Amino acid sequence: MRAMPRIDPTLLRPLLGDRAGRFDVDALDTCDSTSSELLRRAEHGTPSGTVVVADHQTAGRGRRGRVWLSHPDDSLTFSLLWRFADHRQLAGLSLAVGIALARALGELGATGVRLKWPNDLLVETDGHFAKLGGVLVELTHDRRSVTAVIGIGLNLRPPTGELPQPATGLDRQLMPLPERHALLAALLRELANVLDTLATGSFACLRDEWQRRHAWQGREVRLLGDGEAPRHGRCLGVDNDGALLLTTATGTGTQRILSGDVSLRPA
Ligand code: BTN
Repeated sequence: MRAMPRIDPTLLRPLLGDRAGRFDVDALDTCDSTSSELLRRAEHGTPSGTVVVADHQTAGRGRRGRVWLSHPDDSLTFSLLWRFADHRQLAGLSLAVGIALARALGELGATGVRLKWPNDLLVETDGHFAKLGGVLVELTHDRRSVTAVIGIGLNLRPPTGELPQPATGLDRQLMPLPERHALLAALLRELANVLDTLATGSFACLRDEWQRRHAWQGREVRLLGDGEAPRHGRCLGVDNDGALLLTTATGTGTQRILSGDVSLRPA
């Protein structure tokens, strides 16, 4: 028997409150990847605010070409398609999404959810950070707009198996776990809020909040890039466009790291 029922869009709608009209939610038993599904739909003009949530993904994708495993009772797996009139509104998008997720989990009672540049949700336990969820932002363009497909994977229970980094689950933060519709509704409401902030203002309006929630603000870190020697430095936070700011021991001043193809570790 399933521990948690599949998302029913009619149950979700009232929980979205005044944000209900912003989303059109499609719940699938299975698909290759909710993000791949939305990228295909984007080519056919699917409107902004379309959400695909799936119990199973047969080819879930993480950052840096990693596989993202999800199990229906142990994870919440969904993607949101959002269209932007101007590519400048995309600066800091994945960081803004992290804020939305942390805010929503905080509203549900989770304490200690922290953000890692560019797009991980972490929880600190006994001085060690473990990954609670991840965000994968992918973009497609046409002549009139830029479309972002924002893929979100949240661990409800700690995943098992071989993992690239320690992982945890929301059940370690919230007992009992929130009802699945209430959880998704809280996440979507906060996503609408930050996406509106990006559209009407910019990431600069969210920067201070991101830094307050930042796991390694002001701390020594190692920056690992593919095929590059690790760089060490102190993490100053992020710039108004979402670039990571690092001072290095070589004294070359503050470095702006723009590429998401790096990973950060505490030094
Ligand atoms: C990461 O931390 O590497 C990002 C993980 C993003 C996973 C989500 S699950 C929903 C959506 N569909 C995918 O195939 N990937 C994203």
